[in-house]
Amino acid sequence: MKNKNLYFFEVKDDERIFVKEQYPEATIFEEAFSDKHIQEVSDAHIISGFIHSDFSAENLHHLKNLELIVTRSVGYNHIDLKYCDEHNILVANVPDYGSYVIAEHVFALLLSSARKILEGEEHTAHKDFSENGLRGMALKGKTLGVIGTGKIGMHVARIASLGFLMNVIAYDPHPKEDFAQEYRFHYVDSLDDIYEQSDIISLHVPLFPTTKHMINNESIAKMKDGVTLINTSRGGLIKTEDLVSNIKKGKFAHVALDVVEHENNLAEVSELLELPGVIITPHIAYYTRESVENMYKIGAQSIDEFLAGKELSYRVLGH
Ligand code: NAI
Repeated sequence: MKNKNLYFFEVKDDERIFVKEQYPEATIFEEAFSDKHIQEVSDAHIISGFIHSDFSAENLHHLKNLELIVTRSVGYNHIDLKYCDEHNILVANVPDYGSYVIAEHVFALLLSSARKILEGEEHTAHKDFSENGLRGMALKGKTLGVIGTGKIGMHVARIASLGFLMNVIAYDPHPKEDFAQEYRFHYVDSLDDIYEQSDIISLHVPLFPTTKHMINNESIAKMKDGVTLINTSRGGLIKTEDLVSNIKKGKFAHVALDVVEHENNLAEVSELLELPGVIITPHIAYYTRESVENMYKIGAQSIDEFLAGKELSYRVLGH
């Protein structure tokens, strides 16, 4: 490996094969990178991790030889890009390991909520075949507001419009009119239009300082009463305390989340996790057999390009 020390973090047992086949000398950790590992990996040239690894300046400044961080995720808000820029550490992500799987999970969450799948299962597990309390909500004809029509949001718009025959509206500062025509949805001029017109809202914007807590008391107040909110993007887009108080007030028909704020410190969001009627999955929208294999393949491409002295195809630049 041209004398480069390579460390992989957040590798599950059944994923070790993806690393070992390609980089037999790499050191593999099952847990996420944190301050606990600084001594052990102090000679690292390359580190590959996932979203729970803490690539903050405080941790990185101990790794004096570090040249490349590869996150096998789309999101990279767990990496201090400014620090990396200033210290000539290249950063690469995996921009698309199958965005359609996240979109598919949006509909798993939406249908589970709208058709009361979990409650129905609870009935039958108790040998109760009654329909009491299980009346659902149809999707056809409902207005879905997609916030962010990048790779994932675009699949959501497509499935909703062409599959479920929903009325799909979208907001994105960079609208893609050709896709809108092909997938039969239309862009609105502002986020307020989404909040005011949607029966169901699905979030697909990255977490930036400008998008943090975009769903808060003020934006929720603009939404229809009985709106359904789906978040598979990042927990920080929603101000948790405002969400919780509005759920308690009965604002939402359904709330289904694959991400929450403070995923590394769930005590902070325990009230949300315990609220009845809210479906929360543990950040698994991306997690399918097919996408995991792609993550390792595409992550390895960055490592191989780096080792060969080539430009990185999936380099992440600071904002
Ligand atoms: P992308 O970069 O392809 O698309 C993001 C879109 O958001 C872009 O079109 C951009 O113009 C738009 N945007 C930016 N600021 C906006 C704003 N203020 N309002 C409306 N639109 C705005 O990203 P992609 O691949 O679609 O992923 C979206 C997010 O999904 C990621 O940033 C990540 O946080 C999350 N994600 C979650 C996963 C999970 O397992 N739950 C897995 C993968 C990604």
